[in-house]
Amino acid sequence: MKRELALEFARVTEAAALAAEKWVGRGDKIAADQAAVDAMRTVLNQLNIAGEIVIGEGEIDEAPMLYIGEKVGKKIENGSSEILTNVDIAVDPVEGTRMTALGQGNAIAVLAVANKGSFLKAPDMYMEKLVVCPEARGKVSLKNTLIENITIVAKELNKKITDITIVILDKPRHKELIKELQEKKIKVYALPDGDVAGSILSCVIDSEVDMLYGIGGAPEGVISAAVIKALGGDMEGRLILRNEVKGHSQENDRIALSEKERCEELGLKVGEILEMKDLVKDDEVIFSATGITSGDLLQGVKRKGNIATTQTLLVRGKTRTIRYINAVHNLDYKKEIGAK
Ligand code: FBP
Repeated sequence: MKRELALEFARVTEAAALAAEKWVGRGDKIAADQAAVDAMRTVLNQLNIAGEIVIGEGEIDEAPMLYIGEKVGKKIENGSSEILTNVDIAVDPVEGTRMTALGQGNAIAVLAVANKGSFLKAPDMYMEKLVVCPEARGKVSLKNTLIENITIVAKELNKKITDITIVILDKPRHKELIKELQEKKIKVYALPDGDVAGSILSCVIDSEVDMLYGIGGAPEGVISAAVIKALGGDMEGRLILRNEVKGHSQENDRIALSEKERCEELGLKVGEILEMKDLVKDDEVIFSATGITSGDLLQGVKRKGNIATTQTLLVRGKTRTIRYINAVHNLDYKKEIGAK
């Protein structure tokens, strides 16, 4: 993949964040998501790529835009000599829709790009995730208990287990686990939402976080794996049915059945451990995230009149270069993405 494309992808998440910011704190997560989706799609369609969305807003019948299988990129005339780069794209235009709607921190717009066939085509279901810092790459596994994994990470970092910081989503399903870890004096950083940002925190130098564990969305799991691979960390995942996470009810059992069928169609096995090589094959991943609301990872969009600032994390897996890009946008020139 051409190096210059990386900056183009940063523009895509900038556009999504600028568009979503208009909805921060307005209690409407669907409108925030739609604004970000529209903006992302507009900018993706300006790029010199022949892209396919492989992780997106859902299947074609449930998502009008950025649906799985949608083709994005510049349309070129027949006979044109322009060459487009073939890529697969995983997007989450607003990772943290609830936080955006409530005006809370840590919402980001994210996208990961890789050569064709690199990303696991994960169904929209839950995934158990274990993410660790680069020092513990290849040493941990979901086969172990969490305490065993924490002990391994501590050993690799030359720390006591009580000095380890672990991110876990603050959801009812993790309540007992969080209590257990805290009783063992392990530092838990419980984020209300957003396990992509939580995963990244375990692999960047300016963060105290060493690892992440817990159950979150499978599509977010593949996006996390892409950036964790690019940052040199490690991750494993395991697909879980809805009724195992949320309990049995007519509705949850019905959804679980369709999740099982979807997994079979895609050749995936519920409950099987997915290693990094299964989640993301390619080393040449490009990952971009722009802050919507300020958080542990990135500054959110700040706006004064027709001027707005953004902060973007851009990672190139091929060289493991990490860039933080601060940009100042004049919104008079951003009308096409709906940010004005
Ligand atoms: P969205 O805002 O994109 O829906 O995701 C927020 C999130 O917290 C993810 O980071 C996480 O993987 C997932 O939701 C967890 O799902 P649930 O809200 O059902 O617990």
